[in-house]
Amino acid sequence: MDAREMKIKAAEAALSHVEDGMRLGIGTGSTAEEFVRLLAERVAGGLTVAGVPTSERTARLCLELGVPLKSLEEMPELDLTIDGADEVDGRLRLIKGGGGALLREKIVASASARMIVIADESKVVETLGAFKLPIEVNPFGLTVTRLAIEKVAARLGLSGELILRRSGDGPFTTDGGHYIFDASFGLIPDADALASSLNTIPGVVEHGLFINMASLAIIAGPAGARTLTAKE
Ligand code: A5P
Repeated sequence: MDAREMKIKAAEAALSHVEDGMRLGIGTGSTAEEFVRLLAERVAGGLTVAGVPTSERTARLCLELGVPLKSLEEMPELDLTIDGADEVDGRLRLIKGGGGALLREKIVASASARMIVIADESKVVETLGAFKLPIEVNPFGLTVTRLAIEKVAARLGLSGELILRRSGDGPFTTDGGHYIFDASFGLIPDADALASSLNTIPGVVEHGLFINMASLAIIAGPAGARTLTAKE
């Protein structure tokens, strides 16, 4: 089974949690896109759902494939969000934002009664941090924010390069008009503390640590899909 087939397996398993009439948060990234394709087939077959997309990219795909969308303003309470992740640990803490959609992903997940993560085995880790942590920042005061991030990280014994994500000739700009630092902290022994500390920095709009948000992860490997629930 190749990587795409594993993503499809995870997306298929997630679809069994979708019920008629549900208000769905729809994630971003290659795994979430497989979910959108399968969901579109079910919608064509008569399933009634309304989705809130977590990015302009996901919105475009949904519109193209006929998945009905609403804005979060129209539908501020959601039943279920299905989204991918860059890393998942045994407590279902996540690193997200590889695709740059972390802010909307976090807002949508927080508006949902449940969040299910879909991923292939390569995303499961013992300790978060091998994947560079995306930190979404306001373009104003970039250096002040960089220094503040370095300072809170140092207090937790973390250091490493903060690279401003680029796209073409300029900085990558998120759907919200912000920039992203990708932080190479290495393994993060206390992800909860780092998440709280980053939240105190005014220039940090959001970060890619999703703590206590996912209720289930569907992990696909060569032998099929398994589920992970949070263990304390
Ligand atoms: C998008 O910003 C991310 O949070 C994605 O959910 C994450 O990068 C997973 O993407 P893939 O499914 O493409 O690996």
